[in-house]
Amino acid sequence: MCGIVGYIGKSNAIPFLIQGLSKLEYRGYDSSGVALYDNGKIKITKKQGRLKVLEDILDSEKKENVHLGIGHTRWATHGNPSDINAHPHISNSGKIALVHNGIIENYIDLKNNLIKKGVKFSSETDTEVAAQLLGSLYEGDMFETIKKAVGMMQGSFAFGIVCSDYPDTLFAVKKDSPLIVGIGENENYIASDIPAVLSKTRKICRLKEKQIAVLTANSIDLFDFEGNPAEKAITTVDWSVDAAEKNNYEHFMMKEIMEQPDVISATISPRLKNHEIKLDDISFTKEYLENLGKICIVACGSAYHVGCVAKYFIEKLTKKPVEIDLASEFRYRSPIIDNNTLVIIISQSGETADSLAALREAKSLGARVLSIVNVVGSSIANESDDVLYTWAGPEIAVATTKAYSTQLSLIYLFALYVGKILNAIGDEEYHEFIESIEALPQKISEILDKKEQIEKIAKKYYQTEKIFFIGRNVDYSVCMEGSLKLKEISYIHSEAYAAGELKHGTISLIDDETLVIAVATLDEIFDKTVSNIREVRSRGAKVLAITTVDKSEKISQVADNVIYVPKSYDSTTPSLSVIPLQLLSYHVAKLRGCDIDKPRNLAKSVTVE
Ligand code: F6R
Repeated sequence: MCGIVGYIGKSNAIPFLIQGLSKLEYRGYDSSGVALYDNGKIKITKKQGRLKVLEDILDSEKKENVHLGIGHTRWATHGNPSDINAHPHISNSGKIALVHNGIIENYIDLKNNLIKKGVKFSSETDTEVAAQLLGSLYEGDMFETIKKAVGMMQGSFAFGIVCSDYPDTLFAVKKDSPLIVGIGENENYIASDIPAVLSKTRKICRLKEKQIAVLTANSIDLFDFEGNPAEKAITTVDWSVDAAEKNNYEHFMMKEIMEQPDVISATISPRLKNHEIKLDDISFTKEYLENLGKICIVACGSAYHVGCVAKYFIEKLTKKPVEIDLASEFRYRSPIIDNNTLVIIISQSGETADSLAALREAKSLGARVLSIVNVVGSSIANESDDVLYTWAGPEIAVATTKAYSTQLSLIYLFALYVGKILNAIGDEEYHEFIESIEALPQKISEILDKKEQIEKIAKKYYQTEKIFFIGRNVDYSVCMEGSLKLKEISYIHSEAYAAGELKHGTISLIDDETLVIAVATLDEIFDKTVSNIREVRSRGAKVLAITTVDKSEKISQVADNVIYVPKSYDSTTPSLSVIPLQLLSYHVAKLRGCDIDKPRNLAKSVTVE
């Protein structure tokens, strides 16, 4: 997973390339580079480290007459982060350079064939194989060369390509990795994602699967891999430039946490009319739903945690069995799936390789696939039978917050929609649930108003090195998300445990150096969780409880600190209790001096298995 950009036009390419790459650093940031067409030659500059390193080199060179270039920000997959492995890669002829996002799965076979022909390699990457393959096939016609090469490569690849024989042309390719074309005045751009071009244009064209784009300053032509012309679907981006910027926040993560009331409204309001759910984007007949044997939810990371919450309320509201799988496990466990199974894939990026592979596996077994996705037109959305978009806007911080919340809100609506069609839910419960969904933005705002209180609690505990999150039922699922948030951005080792399970072994780890964060929001099992809190407390742990306002009397007797969230319908409480956990992780990470938006070893969009 990497970010790529490209420029062809009349102005200096370098400022756009650097600015565009800075908007794509969320896709990878261990090295960066550019290839520029300069005085008849392709000149490569690439460096390990953050983009600033490259920017300083380019600044010092003060090049002005460069009108064609490509750039790359890398997240290493094949070969360590290093100057040599950084992109762009160039053919031995020095004529053809490219940047790549994805993985060329048959690169070893291709490399061996090229080595037999005498081609020398300098890096460990799969990408250099693509550059050398193009170089070895090239006989003067770049388009024909690209057509031949894409037919020989397997795997996922979005490429930006320049050739020194084509000073006025930028080439691009898309297969299983995202790529957009930005349309400007006397200049055009390519990028892995929209924020990279937003400062220049709102007019974009998203490349479809297996397409080649040929761009000049004044033209854009698309072709399929066989070379047939393809139509361009041009759309206008309707988010503001600000939506892709930090505004006055120190970090994207905080900005995105604070956006949650608004984005949840954006997700639910158009789909709730007069207390009735309208999911115009999908159509499930009563007959199909009645015959449905089961629902399987498949996702990774935080999106999987959304699925863990969803299992509880979908089963309750629809009376259909729900299985939940990690996407990376799903297709290697021989799942029992047929055409009476609905598979729901949840993904912010819509490009997560494991989730995409699970989707394809589910479809090959006959299942209908519904995806819940944020990025419009992404691979998962494109390949699903039905899509519900979360409309959360761009999420830049690596740690997801607003995508999680919108996924959860949308899946509440979906469960109610199905429950109603199947008559599995009574009117009273239906309306109570809908009212609680409608109230979420306001209730989340109330919690966000308490962020200073949560910051104070973070100051008390940020040096703790051992943290357990405990809860039961949906509170436990929220604990999984809270623990992941804390781990990924603060690097504190924490674990989420079902509160009742702790005593079956893990309680031996609890001592007076442990912080236990107990999520206890559910009326029916509140006393049970309180008993578990007493168990850890009597072994020396400090306890921070997250509960609803009505439970203050009992909880204050057992917890050292309490964060209260407004009372809500039980099934929607996770949307509230997760908010303090996001804020707590953020403040703990900040106090520990961590790189909050770009945590070590991570990237936003995980496009490798
Ligand atoms: C955690 C996080 C990841 C993602 C996971 C799936 O904060 O962001 O765990 O949730 O990589 O990504 P998507 O939703 O893009 O499929």
